[in-house]
Amino acid sequence: MSKLKKLKVIKFILNDKEVQYPGHPGVVVLDYVRYLKNLTGTKIGCREGDCGACTILVGEIVLDKMRYRSMTSCLMPLANANGKHIVTIEGVNMDILNPVQQAMSDEGATQCGFCTPGFVMSLAGFCLRDDVVDYQKEALAAIDGNICRCTGYKSIQRAVSKIAEICSKRAGEDVVKYVAKNKILPSYFENIKEKLAILQLSANASASIAKSEYFVSGGTDLYVQKHDVMPHSELSFLMNKNELQGITEENGICIIGAASSVTDLIESPIIRKAFPNFETYYKLVSSTPIRNMATIAGNLVNASPIGDFTAFFLALDASIEISDNVSTRIIRLKDFYLGYKKLSKKPNEFLKSLSVKLPSQKSRFNFEKVCKRTNLDIASVNSAMLMELDGSSILNANISAGGVGPTPMFLKKSSEYLAGKKVSLDVIEELLRIAQTEIAPISDARGTVEYKRLLLNQLIKGHFAVWYPEMINAEFLTM
Ligand SMILES: Cc1cc2nc3c(=O)[nH]c(=O)nc-3n(C[C@H](O)[C@H](O)[C@H](O)COP(=O)(O)OP(=O)(O)OC[C@H]3O[C@@H](n4cnc5c(N)ncnc54)[C@H](O)[C@@H]3O)c2cc1C
Ligand code: FES
Ligand code: FES
Repeated sequence: MSKLKKLKVIKFILNDKEVQYPGHPGVVVLDYVRYLKNLTGTKIGCREGDCGACTILVGEIVLDKMRYRSMTSCLMPLANANGKHIVTIEGVNMDILNPVQQAMSDEGATQCGFCTPGFVMSLAGFCLRDDVVDYQKEALAAIDGNICRCTGYKSIQRAVSKIAEICSKRAGEDVVKYVAKNKILPSYFENIKEKLAILQLSANASASIAKSEYFVSGGTDLYVQKHDVMPHSELSFLMNKNELQGITEENGICIIGAASSVTDLIESPIIRKAFPNFETYYKLVSSTPIRNMATIAGNLVNASPIGDFTAFFLALDASIEISDNVSTRIIRLKDFYLGYKKLSKKPNEFLKSLSVKLPSQKSRFNFEKVCKRTNLDIASVNSAMLMELDGSSILNANISAGGVGPTPMFLKKSSEYLAGKKVSLDVIEELLRIAQTEIAPISDARGTVEYKRLLLNQLIKGHFAVWYPEMINAEFLTM
């Protein structure tokens, strides 16, 4: 039997119409809408998730409400669209320009127009959010994954400001009803939830996790690294599996389902409470559409030495639950990385969840990252650190570092050195010396060996500077 015969039909709503796709589920949504549906408003730019020209909206029913998130269709397999509402630029068009398009036009925020559908879709996604606190700030953040190479961002910023103003008038109404009633988006949006509920009855009948060449979650690593082979490979899609969803807490232990996206983490009240500075950390990681797709499990299994959430969870000494569908085992994340992209995992094993002890009141946690650009860039070096304190004494510390060796690193000797010490400049200096003995960076496009060694020193100092600003003076930081 050929691989294709085993695949089931994918059903979803594309703009205002229900569609069925019986082909390979690893084809990306971008190619499907452009080449099979002739919806060419969604543009092909980089095909790597960087430019945002291909941005679409993905809607699903969550807690009995429609929830829309922007995603880059160049990295999204059709399987992840199953049972959802996919909206392309054609799906937000009305008889006249919608207010987002009108604002872009009025403010001169489009020139060659190639990036414009992507900007409009990201902003349409913003108009559909019902959790906005600061409209101006968050509308601007909604386009952090869109790049324009010719207009200049000031005019786009003015258009964004106008849209934020329009959305801020909503005052508690159901957001989908509000945008439809006020002609911000077409009226068919109002009926999507009902239609989707019916469609999901058949679309949700997903198969169990099967043996395959690749497990696919958000696809944001796989479709960059192997975009040619994905639409021809045998794939097992994990993103829509109910058993891999959810972020829960019991007795200070947080369990994160493997298919949780970065945005799920951002929106989790458990994570927000345990990490009050989480916004500062996640703003350093990719962009809104990528965070909407990227899962934590994908970050851990990709095993990039500079994976940001890998460094984050290494410092929390997280454990991972691994399954082969028959049996399940739990190992500590720090024992997962055996060598460059070499994992303590068989090819047929997948991650089910991640469990982590949340920092207590007596703990301090911090994440730091340096990259060539502040936003939308991968790290040159990153580091996270957790310190449990008893008064002024350190009970226990965990330090992680990325970009300074072949794997994401847990700095064992450095962490052990701190146990029982009191924080002082002398202790930090010795810690820096020990940390340097544990790492083995190489020179590459992100920096020389010497630069990366210096960066790790600075990031570790940075953790202490956040916690003890009165102790860590400018002289210490620059020495
Ligand atoms: C534009 C762009 C910017 C980015 N910026 C950053 C950044 O700033 N920081 C950063 O850390 N990363 C960044 N990334 C990388 C990527 O987004 C993350 O690593 C993401 O977390 C990967 O998750 P995913 O679900 O998309 O993984 P996928 O691409 O689906 O999978 C990645 C790997 O994990 C495996 N896998 C996935 N889920 C499971 C599972 N449950 N069990 C077993 N194996 C599994 C896959 O087989 C594959 O080998 C960026 C990517 C892009 C495209
Ligand atoms: S084409 Fe550039 S993000 Fe998809
Ligand atoms: S208007 Fe030309 S790329 Fe933005």
